[in-house]
Amino acid sequence: MSKQFAQVKTELPGPKAKELLERRHDIVPHGVSYGTPTFVESAKGALLKDVDGNQFIDFAGAIGVINVGHSHDTVVSALQDQVSKYIHTGFNVMMYDPYIAFAEKLANLAPGSFDKKVMFLNSGAEANENAVKIARKYTGRQSIVSFTGGFHGRTLMTMSMTGKVKPYKFEYGPFAPEVYHAPFPYNYRRPETMSEDAYADYLLKQVEDFFITEVAPSQVAAFIMEPVQGESGFIIPNKKFVKGVYDLCKQHGILFIADEIQTGFGRTGKYFAMDHYGVEPDLVTISKSMAAGLPISGIIGRQEVMDSAAPGELGGTYCGSPLGCRAGLAVLQVMEEENLNDCALTIGNKVMDTFEKMYDRFDVIGDYRGLGAMCALEFVKDRDSKEPAKELTGQVLKEARSRGLIALKAGVHDNVVRLLMPLVITDEQLEEGLTILEEAVDEAVAVEKV
Ligand SMILES: Cc1ncc(COP(=O)(O)O)c(C=O)c1O
Repeated sequence: MSKQFAQVKTELPGPKAKELLERRHDIVPHGVSYGTPTFVESAKGALLKDVDGNQFIDFAGAIGVINVGHSHDTVVSALQDQVSKYIHTGFNVMMYDPYIAFAEKLANLAPGSFDKKVMFLNSGAEANENAVKIARKYTGRQSIVSFTGGFHGRTLMTMSMTGKVKPYKFEYGPFAPEVYHAPFPYNYRRPETMSEDAYADYLLKQVEDFFITEVAPSQVAAFIMEPVQGESGFIIPNKKFVKGVYDLCKQHGILFIADEIQTGFGRTGKYFAMDHYGVEPDLVTISKSMAAGLPISGIIGRQEVMDSAAPGELGGTYCGSPLGCRAGLAVLQVMEEENLNDCALTIGNKVMDTFEKMYDRFDVIGDYRGLGAMCALEFVKDRDSKEPAKELTGQVLKEARSRGLIALKAGVHDNVVRLLMPLVITDEQLEEGLTILEEAVDEAVAVEKV
């Protein structure tokens, strides 16, 4: 294949990156990991260039942050304009209108026909922390239920809610009390004799039993659920399960929090992925692609729930910074002008067509799945045992990187390649990236056989 966008096969790191990497090892602790052993020089749209002049097609988007593409002109001009006016005044010291304008627009777009209020924070974890605070305040209850395999952040509360031990929780206990984990449907790994429908019923029954064996529903403030589990490998629950959990929440006066931090802002072909399931979450947490790389997050929620906290109980020095809000407004403008929700569907269809062909070609692919442009390949040692192929997955990503494609690992068993490319990616870039991915799998399989 002749390449138009990605580098030719190269060993990473190159000379300049190597020097930076040595300095990095001396000064940055190991706990801060890295996926690509090089350093960026510039980024635009779906392309990244490193300090040694290598070019990469970006199928990672800073882990789902860059749906509108790197340094989109509309975002850049909004930020330049904002920097020239004021950078930060602290919303609780001197307010500014981009906060209000962004909040109003988000309230209109989020699921739920009820009146909403919106507040901003700095990171995904902080949004989830605050959603828990609000839920506890509103309900006067303490317990929180999250799901196995879910990921909600790295702070004490969000780490406690996270349903994967390594690397997020291992040796970091004790965890926050009153957090419980309910089972989540992993359709690919469900018992073979069960249909998806029967599996959803079975798990819903387990959630009901959970109210007998683990925690009484009258003690539960909220359930928190990702509409598609991100870190655990793009696990897509069926509608019946999501709706069933939501109905149980309604039945017991429990709030339903949707963690849309990875799924939001067009990734699945809708502004919010919960819209696929026909439920109206009481609280929605957002971050990542909401502001094209500016560190901001938020909570959109039912007015009466959001208003349960008293003045001063919520917030923080940098929460809802003017730059974050201006970037967010620019993101919404780009999403509308460039129909990014539709682009996600088109990208998703192309990716799934390619995945189908790859599934026919490589029997190490146990499953491929996707919702909109949130698509993943799950690698196994063989299709019968479904034993996860973690090392092979790592090799696929390494082969892809050396050919100029950046993609990400995910999965409870670290055996999933997930794609989070910018939704502005061109057809040619997408096609080239998918061709490289296929070559990478081919090569990784060959390496394994040696
Ligand atoms: C679903 C979900 N929730 C929460 C978070 C935590 O966000 P942050 O890393 O900004 O704290 C992430 C990050 O990957 C996420 O994917």
